[in-house]
Order: sequence, then C-alpha cells, then structure tokens
Amino acid sequence: MSDITRNEFLKKLGFGGGSLLAIYCLGFSTTSCAVESSIGTDENFLIDLSKKSFKPLANLGGWIKVRNVVVARTGTDSFAAVTAICSHEGEKKIEFRPSEKDFRCAAHGAEFDLNGIGKNKKGRKGLKIFQTAIEGNFLRVTLKKDLKS
Ligand code: FES
Repeated sequence: MSDITRNEFLKKLGFGGGSLLAIYCLGFSTTSCAVESSIGTDENFLIDLSKKSFKPLANLGGWIKVRNVVVARTGTDSFAAVTAICSHEGEKKIEFRPSEKDFRCAAHGAEFDLNGIGKNKKGRKGLKIFQTAIEGNFLRVTLKKDLKS
C-alpha cells in the first residue's frame, strides 16, 4: 500500500493530524524502541503490519509493545492484546510468553492468561484487554469495555 493510498485510507477512517505519531517499542528487546507512524488513540489504534517495526507480529509467538499495550501473535489469524501496565503495582513490564501462551510481568512475576485473567496471586486483579481485528495491512487494537471488575 503506498503512502498516498494509506493516507486516503486513514482519512476515511477518520484519523489524521496529531493522532498519527507515537513511540513504538519492540517487544523482543527491552532496549529497542523505534518511532513509527501511529494511527488513532491509546484506546483505539491501528498498527501498520507492513512496517519493519512490527515484523515480530508476522511470526507465531512474536510480540511488540506499542502505546502501553502488549500485542502478541497467538495463531495464524489471531492476536491477543493487553495493557502493558501491571495491575499488581503498576510496573510497565508485562511481556508475552510464547511457550506458555500467556502474559507475565517481569517485575514480580504476576501471570495472566490471554483474556487478562490472573493465573497467580500477584495477577489476581487481571489486566485490561484489547480486541484485535485485521483490516487490510493494519491490525486494529481497541480497548474492550465490557470487562469483569
Ligand atoms: S508490578 Fe507486575 S508483578 Fe508486581
């Protein structure tokens, strides 16, 4: 998709102006961050899957952090997304564990399933989760509002 086509596409979606920039941090390295175009708000945004920064999402088990959200590829056409901010003590250290197919906080070990439900005592408060949907070359990530308390 060319930039002109992408911009036209985004305008049709109602995005533009200041909503187009954000800092993306790659999930496979705690020190890798890259500035990429971003689309939308922190509760409803699009990831351009054609961008190099999001290449980890091309592979099963690959994951990234973007806008304080951890997005992971969990299947051929499926993704999971949760807040990167841990419900235990607020550290932004949630990571995806491909081997366990779950999320874990590197701070004190809270663990969460793909639906954000806590798997151990430190994770008992759960995590905010996001819905994901493929839209062409983009992955839409939207905060799920109907959460359990
Ligand atoms: S802040 Fe995440 S486990 Fe404590």
